[in-house]
Amino acid sequence: MSVSAPAPLHTIDLILKKRDGGRLDAREMAFLAKGAAAGTIPEEQLAAWLMAAWLRGLSLDETRALTLAMRDSGERFSPARLGKKAVDKHSTGGVGDKTSFLVAPLAAACGVAVPMISGRALGHTGGTLDKLESIPGYRTALTLTEFEAVLAKCGASIIGQTRELAPADRVLYALRDRTGTVENPGLICASILSKKLAAGLNGLVLDVKTGSGAFLRRREDAEYLAALMVATAEAAGTRTVALLTDMSQPLGQAAGNWIELAEAVELLRGQRREGIEDLRELSLTLAGWMIHVGGQAATPEAGKARAEAALADGSGLRVFLEMVAAQSGDTSVFDDPKGFHKPGATEVVEAWESGFVAEMDTTALGWAVQRTGAGREKAGEPVDAHAGILFHARRGARVEKGQPLATMYATRTEMLSEAAAILKQAVRISEAPPRAVALVGRAFTRETAETYLQSSGQ
Ligand code: URA
Repeated sequence: MSVSAPAPLHTIDLILKKRDGGRLDAREMAFLAKGAAAGTIPEEQLAAWLMAAWLRGLSLDETRALTLAMRDSGERFSPARLGKKAVDKHSTGGVGDKTSFLVAPLAAACGVAVPMISGRALGHTGGTLDKLESIPGYRTALTLTEFEAVLAKCGASIIGQTRELAPADRVLYALRDRTGTVENPGLICASILSKKLAAGLNGLVLDVKTGSGAFLRRREDAEYLAALMVATAEAAGTRTVALLTDMSQPLGQAAGNWIELAEAVELLRGQRREGIEDLRELSLTLAGWMIHVGGQAATPEAGKARAEAALADGSGLRVFLEMVAAQSGDTSVFDDPKGFHKPGATEVVEAWESGFVAEMDTTALGWAVQRTGAGREKAGEPVDAHAGILFHARRGARVEKGQPLATMYATRTEMLSEAAAILKQAVRISEAPPRAVALVGRAFTRETAETYLQSSGQ
């Protein structure tokens, strides 16, 4: 008896199927992911399929199939030789989110290997790689052999996506940024997890943002994304936890490139100040979970205490500087971070009335940061290392008319006016203080994620 070969696949059929509300199976997802990675499917067809998926949504099974197909579009990294558990943290994207620069060295200082594969700015959100490249010489493009050598030496390494790992995501991520197809739970899940699963991690801590600066602003959408990612990663064999965290205002004070690194290093030096306490708290919480998932603490709370000790004794800072040096970065810029900061143009935005900072449209603030020159309009454009915005007042703060609200650093003077106009529209000052929002919300583990997905009918 002969078994007939499956019919050949054609991209146009998969576009029509998704456009008309159909569901793709694992073979069809593998065809798309391989075609994206190899460049055999033209970008316009990939973009059309992405838009159909964005509009129609992806089922749980489709999301799992796409995630695995994208993971398998390239090679796999094996951290087993490092002799430690490998745990990474990934955020769904935010404004001023520089926790990676803290959690990677803190978890590494506590005995966990942190092979962190990060992205560039996407939409209104900043990119870890763009920020790191503001350090002169820092190499974000390492081969897997170099990556392993830095990990063996320092315990942590932060690099960009390589040609080898999940190459389908490199193509699809850049296309989504240009075609308005970022904010979809299935696509976000497949994008993030394909890279993480290809990195052979033992554990993963996900920071799922919610609020005005998140890709998925509504809490119920962020919860669904968190549960979806945990269930998908656990089904693929990686111990995963997701925390819902607040993005209704920028994290810390700085949003940009160099200014974010300088702020993170201030905390690694053990310094504390009111405007950046949220960044410290979230970083310690995430690092605590990483240390726990990496088997170096019995509970996330015990992990947090270890992370706090690594902050206090300077071991986190040491690992960070070692990692920068191992990736050819010039660590002397951290001797005088203010002296190194040389923006093209500076302007202070003052409060236009007295009252409480009641609301921040953090997505709009992210676009204001991008307009200073810190982000890019088109893929491949350079970003300005010294552009960005320092926010002086947080949500709920009382401000008086004329008090500095933000300091903007732009590439050129003429870029300041557009950024200032967006910023003024994005911040609402009112007579009454706003309702406080918790920085860290619900945590999803395998059990809670599965229960959530079952009860949500997915
Ligand atoms: N980060 C990613 O890597 N991918 C997304 O789609 C969103 C955030």
